[in-house]
Formats: sequence, C-alpha cells, structure tokens
Amino acid sequence: MEEKSARIGLFDSGVGGLTVLHACRRALPQATFFYYGDNARAPYGTRTEEEVTAFVAEGLEVLARHGIDAAVLACNTATAVCAEAMRKKFGFPIVGMEPAVKPAAEKFRDILVLATPRTAASVRLGELIGRFPRCNISVCALPGLAGAIEKFLTQGEGFSLAEHLPPAKPEAVVLGCTHYAFFRHEIGAYYGAPVYDGGEGTARWLKSVIGALRGEAEWSETTKTNKSLPFKWSGEPAKGAVFLGKWAQINEKVYKQTFGTGDFSL
Ligand code: DGL
Repeated sequence: MEEKSARIGLFDSGVGGLTVLHACRRALPQATFFYYGDNARAPYGTRTEEEVTAFVAEGLEVLARHGIDAAVLACNTATAVCAEAMRKKFGFPIVGMEPAVKPAAEKFRDILVLATPRTAASVRLGELIGRFPRCNISVCALPGLAGAIEKFLTQGEGFSLAEHLPPAKPEAVVLGCTHYAFFRHEIGAYYGAPVYDGGEGTARWLKSVIGALRGEAEWSETTKTNKSLPFKWSGEPAKGAVFLGKWAQINEKVYKQTFGTGDFSL
C-alpha cells in the first residue's frame, strides 16, 4: 500500500494515545490518521477486563466505519486486555502497544515500570518481563495517574505528579501507559533516570505493517469500495489527523496545544 493512501485509526481511552499519534504522524507523514479517544469513560486502567474489551470493540467499530487499513491500540491497557480478541474480531491489522521494557533492558539492569493497575496485573506484561531474567524489573501500578493526567489536559484540573510516583532509585524508567508520556521529562527528572516509552517503537512497527500491506493494495481497494462509507473518497493525497467521536474537539485541542498546530483536514 502507498503510504499516502493509508488510512490508520488510533484508539485510546482518552488523550494518552495522542502521544502515539504524534510519533505515528512523524513516521508516516503522508498517511491519514483517525483518532478516537473514549474520554467520557477514561481511565480504563481500573476497569474490569469485560468493560475494557467492550469499550475497545465499540471504538474500533467507529474507526472501521472510516475505512481504515490498520488500527493502533494506542493504549497499553487495551492491548494487555484485548488485543488478541480484537484481532479476531476485525479484518484489518491491529498494532498493539507494550511497555518499552526491551530497549530499557538492553541497556540497564534496574528498571522501574510504571503502569495502570490493569496493565501491571496482566499476563502479557509478566511474560514480557520474563524474557529479561538478568534484569531486576519492578512494576508499580499507579491507580490514579492516568485519570489525573486526563483531567489536567482536558479540564485543566491540577495535580501533584510526585504524589503519584513511588519512591525508587532505578537506572531506567519505562512508561507503561501512553498518558504518562506527556510527563516524560518530569518523570525522568524526578527519578534522575532515562525514560522509555513505546510511542516510537509502535510507530516503527506500524510503518512496517503499512509497508507489508503494499502487496495487498488491490485487496484493500476492493474492500473499501465494497463498504458503504459515510464520506466521499477524494483520491487526493490525504494528510493530517481526523478526530472522531463526541469528544473529538477535546482531543484535537489537546493535540494542538501539546504538539503545535498542523494540517488536520482531509
Ligand atoms: N493510556 C492508556 C494506557 O496506555 C489508558 C490509561 C487509562 O485509561 O487508565 O494504558
């Protein structure tokens, strides 16, 4: 598939995935991105697996209606809980996110992973950590931080970052939640340690998925024309990001405030 005709959907519980959107837009500057953040029901990290699975399925349905070629679960919690189930349910490739333990473990031994309770308790994270037996990796579940960041960015409600962070002296910190990436510099300064997040790795993976679809372009075009889409194809190189859902304007505003303005129209 040509990068310029690629339509990519990103999903998160709220604004956290905007950090991933930024990395993906840099990796695939000519693709069109659709972003759905379920702000009304964020945070997901303290919800049940059943709730998270149902909400993610609803979000991906919305993205699917926009004829996307691939989706990114720009949410570690959603990936940990239901990436496999979503791959079975939807016909397009789904790129998941996992805490960037691998790049941190290649360089450091004492690693602190900060994550939502749902991600921290997941089998998936346990398996990932098990791949680095020579490292001393501790996982800390932060029940309130993603919600506090969501409220800060969408409603301007202040919070104390230090009150959410556990005392520790790690050599490196891994951010296991896309919301935390907005505060990567502050978290790094707090621990005096380098910080890893999964945004760039996910963007690279997405780029290779889109590249692999190249050979399937014909199939993809047929699929698109067979769907009754709610908009007209322009055939022009598509650019920018389209924010979807009832809270689209909030997500767009947070994106613009954080990463600067850009071309947001088709
Ligand atoms: N930003 C998401 C993550 O990466 C979800 C955080 C939440 O909603 O609790 O885990």
